[in-house]
Amino acid sequence: MTLDFLGQHQRTHMCGDLRAADAGQNVTLMGWINRRRDHGDLIFLDLRDRSGITQIVVDRSNSGAETLAKAEVARPEFVVASLGTVRVRGEGLTNPNMPTGDIEVVCTELLLLSDAKTPPFSPAEEGIGNEELRLQYRYIDLRRPEMQHNFLTRHKVAQAVRAQLSSEGFLEIETPFMTRSTPEGARDYLVPSRVHPGNFYALPQSPQIFKQILMVGGFDRYFQIARCFRDEDLRADRQPEFTQIDLEVSFPTQETIFGVAERFLVAAFEAAGQKINTPFLRMTYDEAISKYGIDKPDMRLPHMADLSTVLTDELRTTLKIEQGLPVYGFVIPKVGELSSTARKALLSEIRTFFGDSGLDALDLVRLRTAEQFVPLAEEIGSHLNATTIAFNGESFTTDDLAVVVTPKLGTPAMWNFDRQWIPKRVGGLRLELAKKYADKHKLFEKKGTAEDYRFLWVTDFPMYEFNEEKKTWDAAHHPFTAPHEDDIKSGALFNDKGVVRALAYDVVLNGLELGSGSIRIHRKDVQAEIFRSLGMSEEEAKERFGFFLEALEYGTPPHGGIALGLDRIVMLLTGATSLREVIAFPKTAKAVDLMVDAPSAPTEQQMRDLHLRTAVRS
Ligand code: AMO
Repeated sequence: MTLDFLGQHQRTHMCGDLRAADAGQNVTLMGWINRRRDHGDLIFLDLRDRSGITQIVVDRSNSGAETLAKAEVARPEFVVASLGTVRVRGEGLTNPNMPTGDIEVVCTELLLLSDAKTPPFSPAEEGIGNEELRLQYRYIDLRRPEMQHNFLTRHKVAQAVRAQLSSEGFLEIETPFMTRSTPEGARDYLVPSRVHPGNFYALPQSPQIFKQILMVGGFDRYFQIARCFRDEDLRADRQPEFTQIDLEVSFPTQETIFGVAERFLVAAFEAAGQKINTPFLRMTYDEAISKYGIDKPDMRLPHMADLSTVLTDELRTTLKIEQGLPVYGFVIPKVGELSSTARKALLSEIRTFFGDSGLDALDLVRLRTAEQFVPLAEEIGSHLNATTIAFNGESFTTDDLAVVVTPKLGTPAMWNFDRQWIPKRVGGLRLELAKKYADKHKLFEKKGTAEDYRFLWVTDFPMYEFNEEKKTWDAAHHPFTAPHEDDIKSGALFNDKGVVRALAYDVVLNGLELGSGSIRIHRKDVQAEIFRSLGMSEEEAKERFGFFLEALEYGTPPHGGIALGLDRIVMLLTGATSLREVIAFPKTAKAVDLMVDAPSAPTEQQMRDLHLRTAVRS
């Protein structure tokens, strides 16, 4: 097969552009053959580029021999240029599912620019199951309209964020990739130095220290769409290389940061054609745990209710719950009537979920008559927050699933010394059950309104968390997070670490943590105290962060900021279920890039240059 040169040919339109109004125009389209259909006298070539598909017709009776010969050999994924005339399709031949479905281009000349092997899968297929194959042949996968849409959305979101932050006086400044270890809690990726044998750069887990130093440097408002690197266990919402919308502000209150973030999120969602409501809801960490059992509540579902003191004696008797035992309840809406087998199976799933924790759900079977169910659900409902949209203005029906949890008699009373013990477990069950019924009962189906996106600020996180294994207090966030001023003044910072609140906040969307930030410590004395309280000796603090502690000594403005996961935002906006759908060249759950086959073993020469020797060679 002889391939053609592009020569001086120029594309006149994209493949998604042409409409009936263009009939009669001579056009040149270029792209990939999506499908080829041979109808005897006519050969149809669906030509695809990122904008869409146009049907090209090669008429056997009318085409020149050369064009016909090329149309005969052309196959899916060949790259071609097609010159021809736009014509309106005949009666009954239009395709209402395609924007270009009213027209076709009658081909007068075909150029074969590139041939293609039979691809391992066709970009024209929907829902390709084998993800490994998709990642290995990512360039073919990226041709799929769904992927093209995801990356167009990603681009628009990034541009909208840039424009909004720039309009508010933020400067985009790049910070280094080859740097020192960053304290975000994950493992670092290290890069060996050739010129400093035995020394390594660390790839940044975030630009945290640099952005704080930019505030010391007087930049006042910084942002960056920053690549971060973390060697941690991967999940659908975590990649080893990911992108943050990272910003820092001098002289801010928490409100300053909330306002900035809300405005750029409005702009980002608008760029993707979605409306969201501001200001976002607010909730303290303690409230989130007690009502949802988790610090990233999904606000599309009603929260749980502590019924311990409010359950009427009558209901306690009906439900056979001992006086004094804690009782928690929650409702999953619109689950529908369950058969008795389904109810029994559900109950045993719940019991498996609780394992030997001592918690138990009441026998759901007993609750499924309307007489038993409605008063109970209403009892739970009267303690649910009216902001939970699922129940706004709607009363309970036996289609809703009410679950009541209470400890089994005689189990160790863990809840007496950890008030979060029951909420965390019941909250976990609430999420499990919501997931279980989500698809079938369309619990999270988008309605095309701002209510689809339930944003929430979670505030007042604890400053420290107790490390049971090491019996030490760890920083709950990176150690530059400022403690609540009241908790410094009250002395709690020094003598009651368990109650100290941080000026730290998260922004949560539909149960996913989108971003995290804090007001920072800007005083060296407070910073030194925090390091000390974390059990870090002065020498260690100096060794790890000496340059930063020194910077704090040269006039540091009060400052604070936030970072949001760009990948996670785009994932939610596109309805993707994994970050791999919105990162062009992602890694697998085992941190492998299947296309380039990384990581890979270095050459002997590279090892010598880097003064390295390994015990293991793959
Ligand atoms: P944090 O570590 O909470 O905070 O990260 C902020 C946001 O980045 C996203 N994110 C990730 N996305 C994909 N894959 C990952 N492995 C991953 N890890 C984090 C999440 C998360 O909410 N320096 C602080 C921010 C600050 O204090 O200003 C920081 O990095 O969406």
